[in-house]
Amino acid sequence: MCRHLAYLGPSVPLADLLTAPEHSLYEQSWAPRLQRHGTVNADGFGFGWYPAPDDPPDDPPDDPPGGPARPGRYRRAVPIWADPNLPDLLRTLSSTALLAAVRSATAGTSQDESAAAPFRDGPWLFSHNGAVPDWTRLPDTGLGPAEMLALEAHSDSALLWATLVQRLRRGQPAGAALADVVRRTAAARPTARLNLLLTDGRGIAATRHGDTLWYARADGRVLVASEPDRSGAPWQEVPDHSLLLATPAAVHIAPLRPPGRAPRPSHRADRTPTSPEDADRMTSRFSLETRLPADHTAMALRADVLNGLGAQPRWLPPKWFYDARGSELFEEITRLPEYYPTRAEHEILIRRAPEIAALTRARQLVELGSGSSRKTRVLLDALTAAGTLECYAPLDVSASALEEAGTALCRDYPGLRVQATVADFQRDLVLPEPQGPEQHGPRLLAFLGSTVGNLDTPERRAFHGLLRRTMSGDDALLLGADLVKDRDVLVRAYDDSQGVTAAFNKNVLQVLNRELNADFDLDSFDHLAVWNEDEERIEMRLRSRHQQTVKIPDVDLSLDFARGEELLTELSIKFRRESLTAELAAAGLQVRQWWTDQQRRFALLLIVPD
Ligand code: SAH
Ligand code: TRP
Repeated sequence: MCRHLAYLGPSVPLADLLTAPEHSLYEQSWAPRLQRHGTVNADGFGFGWYPAPDDPPDDPPDDPPGGPARPGRYRRAVPIWADPNLPDLLRTLSSTALLAAVRSATAGTSQDESAAAPFRDGPWLFSHNGAVPDWTRLPDTGLGPAEMLALEAHSDSALLWATLVQRLRRGQPAGAALADVVRRTAAARPTARLNLLLTDGRGIAATRHGDTLWYARADGRVLVASEPDRSGAPWQEVPDHSLLLATPAAVHIAPLRPPGRAPRPSHRADRTPTSPEDADRMTSRFSLETRLPADHTAMALRADVLNGLGAQPRWLPPKWFYDARGSELFEEITRLPEYYPTRAEHEILIRRAPEIAALTRARQLVELGSGSSRKTRVLLDALTAAGTLECYAPLDVSASALEEAGTALCRDYPGLRVQATVADFQRDLVLPEPQGPEQHGPRLLAFLGSTVGNLDTPERRAFHGLLRRTMSGDDALLLGADLVKDRDVLVRAYDDSQGVTAAFNKNVLQVLNRELNADFDLDSFDHLAVWNEDEERIEMRLRSRHQQTVKIPDVDLSLDFARGEELLTELSIKFRRESLTAELAAAGLQVRQWWTDQQRRFALLLIVPD
């Protein structure tokens, strides 16, 4: 069902975008690789481009000086490869903005070029990749008879375009208008596929709803397309049911959900927006950008598995615990009677948050490994009360945790922008670029929950250095660190009586089963929490109950586990004041405050660059 593409950036010959790259849109017309429905896109094609700003306007009455440019269009009903004029056009036309599409027509729609995208209104160009079942009887389009008769073509795409134009002409922002059309159409036709693409030559708005969508942004240019070409551009996949807003400077991705549908039933009451306006408001203040490469799970997990499970003793990096189920189980851990760190850190935060707000005067709060952001609310409250905070930027590997936390925070903090990033802070600690006025304000970085203790000592040293280099003079770092204490208290915190930590630990095997087709039998492993006295750390392990062979076909591994053989899944290092302070100082980080809870179980450090 069609492939489409939009581009913004420096002026380039259209051939460079449409035909030159390997697996370009041109090639995708007969050999799409990721298309979910249909086979070839041979029922026409079209593209629209914008005149250069200093070109004489093509239609003066419509173009007030300085106003948006009206794009030109070229559409044909033949397959893109069957138009002998095309190579010359693409070679000689250049533009800073383009929208192009190849069509695979839905039965019962116009077959002439009037139904080929892009559709146009004023500065807008639009394309639809998908299909709306029974579209001629779609209720609540809001279109009157005059507008119905003025439809440019007899097709679902032309109908969607007319409903969208109505909203754009009323001045609704592009993203909100697209989200609205998708939500309403999906509510009436749940199986509709609605990948929409819209540009005014200055920004791109797109939805992914049922088919694939990718973007690539680098060097002042941005591409949004149904599927990536093989030009070497840094393509990233957009999650399904998302709204994407892109300019050459930034890409924002926000979840798009029909009202009333929340991802996790237990939270439905909390998360459902109360009205379409409410949903729009939430959507526009919440953005989620994915920094993980599209093949992250595939490639990084494979590499970690080969590296870690192939080694002796066997180990796995802890970030793979946190799929949606893992993030949920971790939340359960934080509520266990035996797991004191969350409560102890919460206690310190409640007591010290006003001081933290006064000392930092942060305009942006960036949190690494934010999870549910539950404790963070104490900081958000204090920074909001102090009147300095504009933006909260959580970063986590768990997209589900970010989505859940972010939408709830937008609902509960009406003045706050939440700019979430899915990333691995060990691989790629590029802090989210502030998108608002807080650009020059002080930032507070938070790294809570003693997640720093899950990094091995060399990794942790490197990480401190990375943090120091990322911080500017007026930034501060708030670090949560669990302290050395009685062995039994520690072991119980990581081996609770209800078996939640055991389930969390074994969940990593489930991740391997799902992602790499492994055949781990969870009941053949025991959960173990061991206090390593010399290293002053808890080690979480999984111990094989009997001799067994586990197959991981996707990485061609066959692993023999002896009875009692252990796999190391997590370290949780416990800290002492002197050594931690020295370690931070070695990285150029100075501890300004060291606060503990009443029982001195946990420490919260306020740190500045020295
Ligand atoms: N800060 C929360 C959650 C701590 S659990 C609290 O204090 O309760 C650790 C969190 O870090 C999880 O949400 C996990 O998804 C995230 N995480 C673990 N490794 C990560 C990595 N390499 N990059 C980004 N996030 C990571
Ligand atoms: N940072 C937390 C800690 O070390 C992570 C954690 C809590 C954890 N409970 C866990 C990791 C159980 C693995 C297993 O305390």
